[in-house]
Amino acid sequence: MNKPEIVVSGARASGKLHIGNYLGALKQWLQLQSDGHTCYFFIADLHGITTPFEPKELHQNTLDVAATYLAAGIDPNKSVFFLQNHVLEHATLAWIFNCITPLGELERMTQFKDKSQNQESINAGLLTYPTLMAADILMYKAAAVPVGEDQVQHVELARVVARKFNSRFGQTFPEPKHLMRDEGLVRIKSLSEPTKKMSKTGDEALLMDDEPEEIMRKLKKAVTGSDASGQNPGAENLLFLLSHFGTKQQTDHFLNLQKAGQLKYSDLKEALAQDISDYFAEFREKKKELLAKPKFLAEVLGDGAAKARKVAQATLLEVKQKTGLL
Ligand code: TYM
Repeated sequence: MNKPEIVVSGARASGKLHIGNYLGALKQWLQLQSDGHTCYFFIADLHGITTPFEPKELHQNTLDVAATYLAAGIDPNKSVFFLQNHVLEHATLAWIFNCITPLGELERMTQFKDKSQNQESINAGLLTYPTLMAADILMYKAAAVPVGEDQVQHVELARVVARKFNSRFGQTFPEPKHLMRDEGLVRIKSLSEPTKKMSKTGDEALLMDDEPEEIMRKLKKAVTGSDASGQNPGAENLLFLLSHFGTKQQTDHFLNLQKAGQLKYSDLKEALAQDISDYFAEFREKKKELLAKPKFLAEVLGDGAAKARKVAQATLLEVKQKTGLL
């Protein structure tokens, strides 16, 4: 993006962030922040409770994600950094959007279909998840939303909501675009089931703060066999990770070995484990320091919410005036 734009993005507070979250989202956020865009980065704690959760864990996960953002380099002096639930306007705007969004639009969302399949009882929040996400985005009149591949459909829905609102009540919201990295949308695969995306639970995720031994242990177990059609999504995933965390030389070396049919997965895994451990070494230390200062984290989040609230209140006032809500 050449000129400064409004950028909005967030991650759920449903677990620690993994390297899929990092490559799909956080890494881009840091670039956008340093390029001087007007950035709003928040923790989607309200989205975090659409799947089963324990209150104590939610509390701890939220602090953990806050420390993760800061340790990775989100700078509260440059970006507005806050918790979704602290800015009450999000939920109100989401409700208004619920009332202009056809049910069919929500029911066809891939994430809703996937997540509701694995749950005994499906809560309404899981269905209306994308209207809350539309509220998060449109509240700040975002032009760009940097996300991984799995969230693109939700950004598209935010565009649908913006169009519906604008055509019914007059031009109010710009239509946001999802933003992708130069090489395209990122979808990091699970280590144990490499046809699926890496997600926040289990051994299939490499967490950003995993210690070196843990990284090695998880990578050693990573699935790298070829499937019936000769594809090897596990190995592709590891090579993709190497291209991000290792040097170009190293990546070329392993790609050449693969072409020659001489790639030893144990060597690849060892090199990758070392690279990922080194890449996040400073991050791990910073995060530990931040987690030891919960008061500081609360202060930073309080300041961020105050900044976000100002913009959110202005948007909501405009929406209320246009919709006739007193
Ligand atoms: P969440 O918490 O699932 O993920 C946070 C970000 O990480 C990306 N991501 C991935 N990218 C590549 N490979 C993967 N395996 C992978 N797993 C996750 C996600 O695409 C996302 O960008 N609904 C959002 C949170 C949200 C939001 C918003 C985002 C709420 N409101 C408004 C943008 C704008 C979510 O669940 O992210």
